Amino acid sequence: MLNEKVIVVTGGGGLLGGHFCRAIAAQGGIAIVADVNLDAAQSIVATINTNNGRAQAVALDITDADSVERVIASLHAVYGRIDAVINNAYPRNARWGKKLEEVTYADFCENVGLHLGGYFLVAQKFALYFRAHGGGNIVNMASIYGTQAPRFDIYADTGMTMPVEYAAIKAAIIQLTKYFAQYFKTDNIRCNSLSPGGVLNHQPETFLKKYSDYCGSKGMLEPDDIIGALLFLLSDSSRYMNGQNLIVDDGFCL
Ligand SMILES: NC(=O)c1ccc[n+]([C@@H]2O[C@H](COP(=O)([O-])OP(=O)(O)OC[C@H]3O[C@@H](n4cnc5c(N)ncnc54)[C@H](O)[C@@H]3O)[C@@H](O)[C@H]2O)c1
Repeated sequence: MLNEKVIVVTGGGGLLGGHFCRAIAAQGGIAIVADVNLDAAQSIVATINTNNGRAQAVALDITDADSVERVIASLHAVYGRIDAVINNAYPRNARWGKKLEEVTYADFCENVGLHLGGYFLVAQKFALYFRAHGGGNIVNMASIYGTQAPRFDIYADTGMTMPVEYAAIKAAIIQLTKYFAQYFKTDNIRCNSLSPGGVLNHQPETFLKKYSDYCGSKGMLEPDDIIGALLFLLSDSSRYMNGQNLIVDDGFCL
């Protein structure tokens, strides 16, 4: 599906990013594993190379304009093209995850700045590159919590919460996606967002049970449950899809 396409995955060394990169390589693409944690990115590349896939690790900080520009220039120098970028990194400060009462103004602004600001920066720099080189494809990782009111009941007694910044960030990313789609739609650039439900990552059993009560047959997803939707958005099968938000959540939001 992605033969010879050069696809950059920000946060490619993380939970979803690693699966995304492996799926891109399995479909014949060249996965650029771009992460502020270069060791994590290199570990993902090693798993791809042992399966004869093509991948490259690059150091990238999505909150640093010079870093984003350096990555674009270095990839263009090596491959002569970049076909797509997945805005998938997940920056957060040390106080991320507090309950609403404990979120300070400074923490709110910092986390929104890192995550939403970083996604804007990556989308902006890649869109300008794409416009100068005939087109491209941007996929922004959003979330069910960009459109769905939080279901706080599932977090009760777990020590977890759904951070207020996350709702603001992901809702804004969905609208940012439409803005970019509209702004660049005559430049052969498209921009869509992908909104997964929660992904399994050693959450407490009580939480998993309450979460799955809102779902169909699966409940919390495995990273691979999102791959089909991602490949669709990256491939020419979705060529005329632009500015849309694709939700994959086993019915959690219904
Ligand atoms: N895991 C879920 O349940 C879930 C559900 C819905 C949406 N999402 C979204 O999917 C995306 C990936 O989530 P994840 O769970 O895989 O996150 P993760 O924390 O496992 O991985 C995030 C990666 O981003 C990297 N990163 C952090 N700051 C960075 C920066 N400034 N520049 C570059 N890289 C940076 C980290 O090093 C890490 O490798 C996020 O946008 C997240 O909101 C996740």
